[in-house]
Amino acid sequence: MSQIKEIEKPNKIFENAQDFLPLLGVDYIELYVGNAKQSAHYYKTAFGFQSEAYLGLETGIKDKVSYVLKQDKIRLVLTSPYNKGGEINEHLDDHGDGVKVIAFWVDDATKSFEETVKRGAKPYMEPLKEEDENGYVIRSGIHTYGETVHLFIERKNYKGVFMPGYKKWESSYNPTSIGLGYIDHVVGNVGWNEMNVWSKFYEEVLGFSQIISFDDSDISTEYTALMSKVMSNGNGRVKFPINEPAKGKNKSQIEEFLDYYNSPGAQHIAVSTNDIIHTVSEMKSRGVEFLYVPDEYYDTLIDRVGKIDEDIDILKEHGILIDRDDEGYLLQLFTKPVQDRPTMFFEIIQRKGAVSFGKGNFKALFIAIETEQKNRGNL
Ligand code: FE2
Repeated sequence: MSQIKEIEKPNKIFENAQDFLPLLGVDYIELYVGNAKQSAHYYKTAFGFQSEAYLGLETGIKDKVSYVLKQDKIRLVLTSPYNKGGEINEHLDDHGDGVKVIAFWVDDATKSFEETVKRGAKPYMEPLKEEDENGYVIRSGIHTYGETVHLFIERKNYKGVFMPGYKKWESSYNPTSIGLGYIDHVVGNVGWNEMNVWSKFYEEVLGFSQIISFDDSDISTEYTALMSKVMSNGNGRVKFPINEPAKGKNKSQIEEFLDYYNSPGAQHIAVSTNDIIHTVSEMKSRGVEFLYVPDEYYDTLIDRVGKIDEDIDILKEHGILIDRDDEGYLLQLFTKPVQDRPTMFFEIIQRKGAVSFGKGNFKALFIAIETEQKNRGNL
């Protein structure tokens, strides 16, 4: 029997969240990577991102290089160090390639910092104003789970490309977009018994509210289990599910992540599309690997989700998962990890009314993940 707890009805979901921290959305996600130049090529080629901005030796920066990529409302920043030692190398040594910054777009970065620190956030960056001939940007930041941080970006007085210090990145290599639109949610994996600590952090420090929780009776297979709570900000533009491992016969996928990331961290970034069949077939032809979904998943699909617009055979061909809630349905698919360590991956999601997170697919998804874990000798 389902143990899912819908905390609020979807149209009332976000009313509990408080407004001392109005977030306009996710401004960008920054990954620390071993080779930003090659990562940028991968995200352009395979994920259809466009070149936006650059910072490095050519712009007078001596210690690090950053490439900014864009697709509709999604911005990725890929950063690598030039020299040995320092914070970025330490991060790479501990975690491999992974998410360092989940930045929020705000109206007032100084107030965002003050309000969150007042409520218990550990400061990461005091408000800092940077300017050039195009205006100014104010940034500030706080720590969250593991070594991940949230930055607050105030850019209302800036007209230039990305931020002061960056130059426009002109490239003659411009693969077409694959139709990714915005960041739907970012999932954090935290340690044993830490889910409540971090959901409380988002509630108390950032004014988020809990919209859904899943326990291990929802999210378990024969072997492994996890628990999850989904936190959302007031306007629903920022949604962070928080996972922790739960006891199963074997090692949970969350434990595998924690073992290789060596701390809590961002497990997956879910990105939206309006045409998942197009997006996924483009990604496949450009070399992205997805989790395998067994054919049997589709045998009972119509009984479970009812009538849908898409041709089931095409969904089956691509291994796209479907789930329904009271408001509509959603289609989703998960990549394999995008670096060598079995850590971060992406979710491609198309929402057709549904506001949930694909609970009906958890079982199929986790069996698929376990197959991969087993191949790695980690189950
Ligand atoms: Fe997700």
